[in-house]
Amino acid sequence: MNNPLFDLTGKVALITGSTKGIGRAIADEMARCGAKVVISSRKAEACEQVAGELEAAGFEAIAVPCHVGRKEDLQRLVDTTLQTWGRIDVLVCNAATNPVYGPTSEMTDEAWDKIMGTNVKGTFWLSNLVLPHMAERGDGVVIVLSSIAGLRGNLTIGTYGVSKAAEAALARNLAAEWGPRGIRVNAIAPGLVRTDFAKALVEDPERARRAAEKTPLRRIGEPIDIAGLAVFLAAPASAYITGQVIVADGGETAC
Ligand SMILES: NC(=O)c1ccc[n+]([C@@H]2O[C@H](COP(=O)([O-])OP(=O)(O)OC[C@H]3O[C@@H](n4cnc5c(N)ncnc54)[C@H](OP(=O)(O)O)[C@@H]3O)[C@@H](O)[C@H]2O)c1
Repeated sequence: MNNPLFDLTGKVALITGSTKGIGRAIADEMARCGAKVVISSRKAEACEQVAGELEAAGFEAIAVPCHVGRKEDLQRLVDTTLQTWGRIDVLVCNAATNPVYGPTSEMTDEAWDKIMGTNVKGTFWLSNLVLPHMAERGDGVVIVLSSIAGLRGNLTIGTYGVSKAAEAALARNLAAEWGPRGIRVNAIAPGLVRTDFAKALVEDPERARRAAEKTPLRRIGEPIDIAGLAVFLAAPASAYITGQVIVADGGETAC
């Protein structure tokens, strides 16, 4: 029998950037806990493929392509979900971009705007579209993917880190604003996780070894390490947790 503390049966979970990496793992694990999932990324074909795989495995899933940096795409994502299932119980703002590496002093205005526009403004737009619907029902959960890059200075992905710190701050503000309406908002700050996003680091054996050594657990994270935490934050098990940034980094920032 399922433990009700971790049961998401009947819940509708909308996860941006859910065709691969951390978002895909979150969609898979939320579906396994009973949720209906909305699969979304910029590529329609990839969305259809993943939703099809989930349906073939006996889960309920729909595919809705959306670029999170485009307001009209986000509106369509929310409208299509509401037309299909009538509600959104869990929103996971996961999709993000980091198009450039290097010091802040060399960051172009264009790159800065792209990082902030996709990561911060996209999350701001999407949460403003979804939260009023949750508030009407007096219930809902939002999970924002931040990063430990938002907790410390960084010489190569500093601007991305600024965007991830802003997303964590946005999660806190939304928790303060919407808590009285029954909505919980938390952020997850992963350390290095084995995905395409971190390909350059995880596929170079020497860099991957050095990264693993920085953690007390002596390993890089896997997408499922983050998915388990996301399920916890979506489920009744975390009913008294809101406005927090939960770090999942193998202990890297603890020492
Ligand atoms: N991997 C890490 O080490 C790590 C560490 C800390 C935090 N994070 C955070 O975790 C989240 C997920 O990262 P990941 O490592 O899982 O990345 P990933 O494996 O590259 O997957 C990214 C997903 O987002 C989609 N996507 C990318 N840009 C998008 C956009 N503009 N609009 C909509 N969808 C978009 C991608 O599909 P399409 O290309 O088809 O759009 C894909 O489904 C991000 O917020 C990232 O900042 C990752």
